[in-house]
Amino acid sequence: MKMTFKRIADLGDLTGKTAVVRVDLNVPMAEGSVADDTRLKAVKPTVDAVISAEGRVILLAHYGRPKGQVVPEMSLKPIVPALARVLGRDVGFYGLDEPKGNEAVIVIENTRFHAGEEANDPTLAAAFAGLGDVYINDAFSAAHRAHASTEGVAKLLPCAAGETMGAELQALENALGAPVKPVAAVVGGAKVSSKLAVLENLVEKVDHLIIGGGMANTFLFAQGYDVGASLCEKDLRDTALVILENAKTHGCAVHLPTDVVVAKEFKAHAENRAVGLTEVDADDMILDAGPETVKALVSVLESAKTLVWNGPMGAFEMEPFDMATVALAQAAARLTDEGKLLTVAGGGDTVAALAHAGAKDSFTHISTAGGAFLEWMEGRELPGVAALG
Ligand code: 3PG
Repeated sequence: MKMTFKRIADLGDLTGKTAVVRVDLNVPMAEGSVADDTRLKAVKPTVDAVISAEGRVILLAHYGRPKGQVVPEMSLKPIVPALARVLGRDVGFYGLDEPKGNEAVIVIENTRFHAGEEANDPTLAAAFAGLGDVYINDAFSAAHRAHASTEGVAKLLPCAAGETMGAELQALENALGAPVKPVAAVVGGAKVSSKLAVLENLVEKVDHLIIGGGMANTFLFAQGYDVGASLCEKDLRDTALVILENAKTHGCAVHLPTDVVVAKEFKAHAENRAVGLTEVDADDMILDAGPETVKALVSVLESAKTLVWNGPMGAFEMEPFDMATVALAQAAARLTDEGKLLTVAGGGDTVAALAHAGAKDSFTHISTAGGAFLEWMEGRELPGVAALG
């Protein structure tokens, strides 16, 4: 990950200048109102920094995936009042080509209403650049997209990373770029196929790779265990074996469950039992790691100095199959609170799982990104970050 980007202070005197700031306003909505304002709060530090430097702010953001069409349900307009509340300021709202008012903070309508956004069209990038004097990218969560508002425009104006993006990049650098070792990673979730590149990258980078969730079943199957009726990508057997082999080559210890919690029904409070790996019946579904595994994994966390987490350890949305996720999250939170572990987590499901465990606030850094966090875990260069160099 590139760490040679400029910060707002490097843009010089902003007095009387307008900063075009790319933010992420892709927030969950429920019945026309913002259901979670985490991403709105993330906008405030940069807006405050520009305004206290006597500058003005024009915010660019996307909402949903309208694919270059004007889709009224994907307008940013309903988000503006909530943003104004979070910022504690008046916020103007205009179309890209409309004459603008003199508000100190302005939101421009959904960048993805223009076909040129996703195509990274130079004409649209120039129109965005024409809105101001400098460009600040504060949307790490959209930095995996090489779009006109994240990549193209950065080439046309003096540019810098915003406060939230800068803090996020620093936290990620501390976790995988130049971490304090030993480093442990938890990778969970349903499918190996969706996190193949993550696993391939991590075995080369971390000392301990903890694999949980449905994807652990594919590894157990590859090792010759019968996983019964569990979620399992049998066609990825050889891929799983290659990952285990690569881990060995790179000195990465892979931790798979040594006992599991199984049930015959996929529902909360289904009758369940903790069993050894050779005791899974044909009609059993593995829905969580077992208590013996959890104990061993807590020791792994206790031996680590840095932890990166993406994906739950089991079917955490259904009690009691949240046991391993909750126990591990709480151990990570405790170790963070004690100053023994640096903890970074990201991804929608992961944040929900950590919140469910009451562990979220203790983590050193929780990423606001979904796809961008995963691409970072894959070791890929993110175009929106690279453009700031
Ligand atoms: C997100 O919600 O993760 C970001 O806003 C990126 O959205 P996208 O996946 O539609 O590019």
